[in-house]
Amino acid sequence: MSADPIGVFDSGIGGLTVVRAIKELLPAESVVYFGDTARVPYGSKSPQTVVRFSLENAAFLQTKHVKLLVVACNTASSVSMPALGERFDIPFTGVIEPGVRAAAGLTKNGVVGVIGTLGTIGSGAYQKALKRYEAISRVVAQPSPLLVPLVEEGWLDHRITRAVVEEYTAPLVREGIDTLVLGCTHYPLIKKVLMDVVGESVTLVDSAEATASEVSSMLESKGLSSDSDRGESSYYVSDIPLKFQEIAQRFLGRSVPLVTQVEVGE
Ligand code: DGL
Repeated sequence: MSADPIGVFDSGIGGLTVVRAIKELLPAESVVYFGDTARVPYGSKSPQTVVRFSLENAAFLQTKHVKLLVVACNTASSVSMPALGERFDIPFTGVIEPGVRAAAGLTKNGVVGVIGTLGTIGSGAYQKALKRYEAISRVVAQPSPLLVPLVEEGWLDHRITRAVVEEYTAPLVREGIDTLVLGCTHYPLIKKVLMDVVGESVTLVDSAEATASEVSSMLESKGLSSDSDRGESSYYVSDIPLKFQEIAQRFLGRSVPLVTQVEVGE
């Protein structure tokens, strides 16, 4: 048993969808969140830069004595896992493997789609991980960079978001996918539009929920679960941007009680 917190980092505010899923599944766990709001977005940056930022973010969370590290950002998860493994002794997980495992268990026809940032899809990490499963015969990947700003703008059920989703998912639907992995922190917020557009025959995989289940099994298998009645949460960011509370509330499902600004890296 361990009452130490779980550390979660993301490029910005989007990773709060992962915190929300963890808190829903594991209310006894405490969470320390770090959002790199001063350097967001990661989705359009080079892999080298994203790896450097990820190492700095993890080093910050290590100072908070976290028992497990969760890389909530899909872009960071797609390029930083080997470097994190080399540098840190803390058990850690990204969001890719849990989402991929869920997709492999759900697909019936073996044709799986994935959408994410330019960096995530460009890295090929999802494609490679999905193809490792026998149940998956074909992967159709589509970068969808316009969706992050639309979600941050709060256009969750908006005709423009719908049009953008139609444009991005048309090739996936044409290829006959029956499962679609939401490979970005922001996409769980537009599940309704995505579901309407791709149709009922396509199952959506929410990486945030899949990651929360992974965290639960990791804690259990390592004997690190918390036995407290209710976990606490603390939130750190590298900048408090305009409209922070409004956007954060959208992702977390409630307001962020107290947020502390810190500097990470050099
Ligand atoms: N958190 C990022 C992801 O899941 C999206 C935002 C960004 O580009 O930094 O890929």
